[in-house]
Amino acid sequence: MKVLVIGNGGREHALARALSLDPDVTEVHAAPGNPGTATVATLHDVDPLDGEEVAALAGSLGVDLVVVGPEAPLVAGVADVVIARGIPVFGPTGAAARLEGSKAFAKEVMAAAGVPTAAAHVCTTPAEVAAALDELGAPYVVKDDGLAAGKGVVVTDSRDEALAHAAGCERVVVEEFLDGPEVSLFALCSHREADGTTVYPLQPAQDFKRIGDGDAGPNTGGMGAYTPLPWAPDTLVVDVLRDVLQPTVDEMARRGTPFTGLLYAGLALTSRGVRVIEFNARFGDPETQPLLALLDSPLSPLLLGAATGTLADVPPPVFKPGAAVGVVLASAGYPASSSSGDVITGVDDAEALDDVHVVQAGTALAPSGELVTAGGRVLAVVATGGSVAEARATAYDGVARVAFPGAQHRTDIAAGV
Ligand code: AMP
Ligand code: GLY
Repeated sequence: MKVLVIGNGGREHALARALSLDPDVTEVHAAPGNPGTATVATLHDVDPLDGEEVAALAGSLGVDLVVVGPEAPLVAGVADVVIARGIPVFGPTGAAARLEGSKAFAKEVMAAAGVPTAAAHVCTTPAEVAAALDELGAPYVVKDDGLAAGKGVVVTDSRDEALAHAAGCERVVVEEFLDGPEVSLFALCSHREADGTTVYPLQPAQDFKRIGDGDAGPNTGGMGAYTPLPWAPDTLVVDVLRDVLQPTVDEMARRGTPFTGLLYAGLALTSRGVRVIEFNARFGDPETQPLLALLDSPLSPLLLGAATGTLADVPPPVFKPGAAVGVVLASAGYPASSSSGDVITGVDDAEALDDVHVVQAGTALAPSGELVTAGGRVLAVVATGGSVAEARATAYDGVARVAFPGAQHRTDIAAGV
């Protein structure tokens, strides 16, 4: 089958790569993609936010499936336009993507479905924010209601900083601080009127959101990830399926806006049990990079099954034994800004190592043909191994071979696991 992947980040490179390795897939197309994606797919120049353009490209290529990677096109309803042309889409409709697009909406769905999450207040005025901060106490958690590329959340002990962040947003969610390790659990979701919903969780992963070692500094889109989590409780996946994923997709179906595609539950394992930190409506980045490196099942039947409501007919995903670790290299200035045009060396050297591949995100080809930086998160070095420690050591061997001016990476991804 032929697949078109929409987006230009690391997640989309990883998806296109996994599809290119899938024996059922004859052609992989990507739009707009990046130089890494170009090594595994044919690139097309399309605005991912323009549903008509995406649908026209999918139609002219005759693809059997469109995979929409990032949240912005999903929230903008790109999937709806493509579905209306009769082409299957992996990714929710705009109405279902509100689970990510509005944190207030996600809270409303969780309340209706009885899903455990932080206590929260939706605020639109400084007075409401101040009252909510005082009621919930420090550390303060203030979230921009809308999409903010991983940077809309401030967690701080400073009441002034919390108020200042809220003042810069139209509508915020002020919420209770959740303590405890964070886990990302992804689930493939399908819905068909006749059969109801099918939810297939993947194995848990962990993302490192802060820029600095030891979780210092501001939040980013994610600086590295690994899977599986040997320390997580054995019942985690079963518990989250029962308490979080299934009730959420059931509530979305009940509302007439069934969720299909990938439901990403960002969880805190608190002393009082699992709590949802956030939902996303798409594969997480960078967790997808190590997860797909370990996925043993072919990817295309799972994505097509979710897109067409037939996931129940496809065997649940199976992962290889061992572990995978991905370490992100970010450009100078990230996350406050980013630096473009810095020449990247050593990608081939890193990939010459056994069990290592490089997933590109913010990269471009200069007119000279050199690979250069073109964004905040530039690439991820991904390695597999028999254990998290082994995969981690190999990933950092790869990181040591890649260089560009001002490159930043964390040295503690998956450390001590
Ligand atoms: P979000 O965009 O909602 O995932 O938030 C980004 C990051 O902020 C999360 O991964 C957490 O590290 C942190 N965070 C968000 N909400 C909370 C909370 N209620 N308590 C503690 N940390 C939080
Ligand atoms: N890894 C965080 C995200 O994809 O939102």
